[in-house]
Amino acid sequence: MATPRGFSFVGGEVGDWRILGCDVVIGEPLPTASRLDIVEALIEKPPAGAAWSLRGVTSNERYVTRNERAQLVVKQPALGRAEASHAALIPIGKSSAWWELTQDERRELFEERSKHIAIGLRYLPAVARRLHHCRDLGEPFDFLTWFEYPPEHSEAFEELVRELRRSDEWKYVDREIDIRVVREGR
Ligand code: HEM
Repeated sequence: MATPRGFSFVGGEVGDWRILGCDVVIGEPLPTASRLDIVEALIEKPPAGAAWSLRGVTSNERYVTRNERAQLVVKQPALGRAEASHAALIPIGKSSAWWELTQDERRELFEERSKHIAIGLRYLPAVARRLHHCRDLGEPFDFLTWFEYPPEHSEAFEELVRELRRSDEWKYVDREIDIRVVREGR
């Protein structure tokens, strides 16, 4: 993949995305905010007026096989499609039990048992995505997951998250917040 890129997701009063809802799936909540601003940089200090600021970096893949990558590359759309006016920012933390597993045990849980990629592939090209890692930045979450989709695929997106949350992989998720937004800027 290309060079890692840093992003900051700032919840506050400004930004192109209006926050529709912020549901706690498990763990500590986040303070209330009305808008989301996405900054392509790791900002050091939250800007004035920010309720929260979450940072993450894109990185190399950990689990994808060559064959899976080939399928993803064919199906996955780019972010920023004009029609994809709805989006979800889902920050996720995994338990110490997950991080104590070895790489092969995590892969087994992630795909052989939970079918994360197989399930996800069924929702492409409706949903565009970007995964950010933040565990090594000392952030409150391990991952910031970002998804964009056209409003007519909202129900499909709900089905996708329901399916993943029923998986064995999700038994290791100990913090998850589901923030839904709609694009109003640009
Ligand atoms: C749109 C369909 C989706 C596809 C195609 C997809 C695909 C993937 C792939 C290929 C990876 C592994 C990257 C690697 O090898 O390191 C991954 C990781 C991840 N995905 Fe998804 N995903 C989808 C939806 C979701 C959703 C809806 C969520 C959250 C509710 C989610 C949460 C995560 C997390 C937290 C990771 C990191 C797991 C870890 O490294 O422990 N994904 N996804």
